[in-house]
Amino acid sequence: MLMLEVKNLNVFYGNVQVLWDVSLNVKEGEIVVLVGANGAGKTTLLNTITGLIQPASGSVTFMGHDITGLPPNEIVELGISYLPEGGRLFPDMSIQENLEMGSFLKKSWVVRKERQEQVFEFFPRLKERRKQLAKTLSGGERQMLAMGRCLMSGPKLCFFDELSYGLAPKLVKESFKMLEMLRDNGLTIFLIEQNVNQSLEIADRAYVLENGRIVSHGTSEELKQSDHVRKAYLGI
Ligand SMILES: Nc1ncnc2c1ncn2[C@@H]1O[C@H](COP(=O)(O)OP(=O)(O)O)[C@@H](O)[C@H]1O
Ligand SMILES: [Mg+2]
Repeated sequence: MLMLEVKNLNVFYGNVQVLWDVSLNVKEGEIVVLVGANGAGKTTLLNTITGLIQPASGSVTFMGHDITGLPPNEIVELGISYLPEGGRLFPDMSIQENLEMGSFLKKSWVVRKERQEQVFEFFPRLKERRKQLAKTLSGGERQMLAMGRCLMSGPKLCFFDELSYGLAPKLVKESFKMLEMLRDNGLTIFLIEQNVNQSLEIADRAYVLENGRIVSHGTSEELKQSDHVRKAYLGI
């Protein structure tokens, strides 16, 4: 089943067009990655899908609902969650408080205790350390907490914007393993990555965004074989 379908999105900042006729889709249970260099328009696309930016034209459909132009809180309540680039955690808040920040919408707030227990089942280390401040956590624990916070709104589809950015390769691997575990437990995942090499290892399919246009897409295996991807992103 198609979970997300993006069709012919055109997006501008003022007079400057940043996304050109972008189309892509995500099926239930997949890990899909959008790769592209800095400035390609990846975050802009994500912000458009999640309702933070209005497209000039095109549409976004999620589980059969046309969500184009809906406010972000309604999109979250329909089941899309979003881990933004950079500053993901509140360093001076405890694990528990950070998780609660992920369930601030009314429908999620009333079930936050149950959701938190679910997160603790996925990541038992967070349960042991629930009172500990986020700034004192190890790199791996921070990643668990960031993912856990994303789960607190009860999403079906989660976007992770540059989850691996700035992490050592070993921690990237660990984080991607966590994503696979979440996918195996029913979450559909959309990654935005500059780490093409490692993200193609876990993704089912991939799209390549260059200067605001999707220039190539296919299974991860197909993209790993593509001359363009090998030269431009894998350095081989
Ligand atoms: N709020 C904004 N106003 C104007 N231009 C922006 C804004 N945000 C991003 N841009 C520009 O849009 C382009 C795409 O940016 P972005 O979506 O952040 O790319 P990526 O996430 O792939 O690095 C860049 O040229 C960037 O400078
Ligand atoms: Mg970005």
